[in-house]
Amino acid sequence: MSKTVLVAGGAGYIGSHICIELLDADFKIIVVDNLSNSDKKSLERVTQISGKQFEFYQIDLRDEGALNDVFINHKIDAVIHLAGLKAVGESCEQPLMYYQNNINASLVLFELMQKHGVTDLVFSSSATVYGDPATVPIDENFPLTATNPYGRTKLMIEEMLKDIAAATSFNVVLLRYFNPAGAHESGLIGEDPNGIPNNLLPYVSQVAIGKRDKVSVFGGDYATPDGTGVRDYIHVVDLAKGHVKALQTMKQPKDNKGVCKVYNLGTGQGYSVLEAISAFEQACGHEIAYEIVDRRPGDIAECYAEPTLANQELGWQAEKSISDMMKDAWRWQTQNPNGYQDD
Ligand code: NAD
Ligand code: UFG
Repeated sequence: MSKTVLVAGGAGYIGSHICIELLDADFKIIVVDNLSNSDKKSLERVTQISGKQFEFYQIDLRDEGALNDVFINHKIDAVIHLAGLKAVGESCEQPLMYYQNNINASLVLFELMQKHGVTDLVFSSSATVYGDPATVPIDENFPLTATNPYGRTKLMIEEMLKDIAAATSFNVVLLRYFNPAGAHESGLIGEDPNGIPNNLLPYVSQVAIGKRDKVSVFGGDYATPDGTGVRDYIHVVDLAKGHVKALQTMKQPKDNKGVCKVYNLGTGQGYSVLEAISAFEQACGHEIAYEIVDRRPGDIAECYAEPTLANQELGWQAEKSISDMMKDAWRWQTQNPNGYQDD
């Protein structure tokens, strides 16, 4: 019988892609999202792409009563927890909002899981928990640290889950994402940032379509081959498939003790800012204006994954190239110049 997965934060960029991969793999899904950083249309598009219907609840995870009702009304087998605020700069300006939202939402969700006997959980963590790594590639045993309040919420939730798994039968997978990029190949769902994008690729995409003048390249004097920052961009569909693998390989230990596994989801390959811009130029067929400016405070020179563990234990590896990411991002951008507002 197919399992039912509660996808918390499922209307967002990564969540909507996960919904499609889960439905394709014959899971049933229930989506909970407060739409604070997303649009319900993403879920209508999920139905359009997958041809499958599912329940959506517009609920803030911190609304314990409303979330409790979801657990009462559905037999949930597993949870994927993506719900949270994610802008590093904003988290430095409004740390309380980040702790309030990300930590409290997680606490309410985990308490209700325990109350209703749901123990299988996949949590969206981030490579940000490695701080400024001493070397690259980064494996799961590298030291952990936080350099901003957003990253600290990820680290705190990871630590909480390790404690919970040690004391209960919670079966947890922490997935540390590197830099998600691209969109579904249909061009129907993708990243739809509010206001000025913080991340490189949505910004590049908006320059490519003429909404912004030029890309500011933050720093040209890093100790990298071309002086610009190097990151491990991973196609959002590959990332989504990693969640399906995590659920499919999840096994409760025989003694019914809890377990907490950690995996990097990255490609293992780093690209510089200039290489990423050049790959986007190939996809959109014209030049993209950029200017090298000062470094962005808090940025690191290089960050890319050692992804072998996920390959060995989950049977997962990223399959799409940087060119696929850019082509798919460009298709999404051209088909939806104003994101979900275009509907
Ligand atoms: P997103 O903002 O598109 O998705 C997050 C979703 O959570 C949104 O739909 C938002 O409305 C919802 N949400 C936020 N707080 C909520 C609450 N209290 N109750 C209910 N819903 C709530 O972001 P995304 O890029 O899809 O990221 C998903 C997850 O992956 C986040 O936890 C993020 O921190 C993590 N992550 C993202 C990246 C990245 O670069 N995109 C990298 C590493 C980790
Ligand atoms: N960059 C620019 N110009 C821009 C935006 C970014 O040059 O307008 C550069 C950055 O300096 C960096 C690279 O592009 O070298 C990537 O920057 P992003 O902001 O796209 O991504 P980060 O690596 O800084 O951080 C992202 C998420 C974090 C997450 C991390 C690891 O924003 O939340 O990936 O997963 F923790």
